[in-house]
Amino acid sequence: MSLKSPWRSDFPALSALTAEGQTYLDSAATAQKPQAVLDALLGYYASGAANVHRAQHLPGERATRAFEGTRTQAAHWLNAASPAEILFTRGTTEAINLLAYGLEQLFQPGDELVISALEHHANLLPWQQLALRRQLKLVVLPLDDRGLIDLVRARELIGPRTRLLAVSQLSNVLGRWQPLTELLALARAQGALTVVDGAQGAVHGRHDVRAMGCDFYTFSSHKLYGPDGVGVLYGRGEALARLRHWQFGGEMVHTASYQAADFHGAPLGFEAGTPAIASVIGLGAALDYLGNLDQAAVAGHEAALHLKLLAGLAARDGVRLLGEPELALASFQVESVHNADLAHLLTEQGIAVRAGHHCAMPLMQTLGLSGAIRVSLGLYNDGTDLERFFGALDKALELLR
Ligand SMILES: Cc1ncc(COP(=O)(O)O)c(C=O)c1O
Repeated sequence: MSLKSPWRSDFPALSALTAEGQTYLDSAATAQKPQAVLDALLGYYASGAANVHRAQHLPGERATRAFEGTRTQAAHWLNAASPAEILFTRGTTEAINLLAYGLEQLFQPGDELVISALEHHANLLPWQQLALRRQLKLVVLPLDDRGLIDLVRARELIGPRTRLLAVSQLSNVLGRWQPLTELLALARAQGALTVVDGAQGAVHGRHDVRAMGCDFYTFSSHKLYGPDGVGVLYGRGEALARLRHWQFGGEMVHTASYQAADFHGAPLGFEAGTPAIASVIGLGAALDYLGNLDQAAVAGHEAALHLKLLAGLAARDGVRLLGEPELALASFQVESVHNADLAHLLTEQGIAVRAGHHCAMPLMQTLGLSGAIRVSLGLYNDGTDLERFFGALDKALELLR
């Protein structure tokens, strides 16, 4: 089966990379952008850049309309109750830092923050540092062998002292949807706030934050075929109202004097200074692009590629998969081969995959590994990318063994 991607030609970078001899299999780190997103970026700059929410002139009005248009689109995309529940941040990392700072005053020494053993540093370090600042306890939910947060242990560990649960929707290392429905219900039953890191999950299918029942959900545009420098933080209205302001400056105040100021609520009160206007507009184009695709066809193509990836890895001696990935990516390690050596030989052959700890050092320690190779897929990848990867892998292993 050739597994051709019908969307590959929408992405000019794919032919540029192929011409350079590069096979891009690192979309979980950042995704390539379709022409529609490039057009939106150029269109904004070429028609006249202007600041948003400030100017009465035509370019300012046009930029504000496009910028706010993306907010409305993002609200629809996630089925938020209102565009006012959508905050633009620099990305998932900034969104979680905003939460860890903005919610800090709600916690008392001895309160518990619950995360899981598979969290990316972005959903670990902000909570760890908050716990250190406020003498909170950071509780870590363990995993089972498949790479799922263990619900039996979660039932024991999420309790009356739990004030917040922050977990990933889809692991960037293990490639499994996490049991969010059950976890969020456990946290809600304790009256705890809930945060979902959608950095990896957001791009696979559509996610309904109200059906999910979380207080906060965040993702980065650059992993969703949009520009970098912008991310979305959804907050349920009542949860957003509990957030303390965190960055201060232009366009986030009602009134200001030398001695005091009166701040806007969400979203503008949390978007101090000039935002990443072009990137927000480009994110709108990415959401349009994705929204117009046949979701079932995309999911089917990605699933077929993923099966091919897993089958190819399983067919090779000494390859150990991390967990049981179910979509999008596979991380692996090869017996008696150091992942850095393997990564080096793959890179030399033009294979762009990720190697190392994947910003999840504690997870790697839990798995007893210093690192792993991760192959991740985008909707533009096709069977030939995987064939090139496996050809290069075989050559590298021949050299290393
Ligand atoms: C699960 C997860 N969370 C958070 C992040 C951080 O995203 P960003 O670097 O876009 O802020 C990543 C990035 O790889 C991720 O995979």
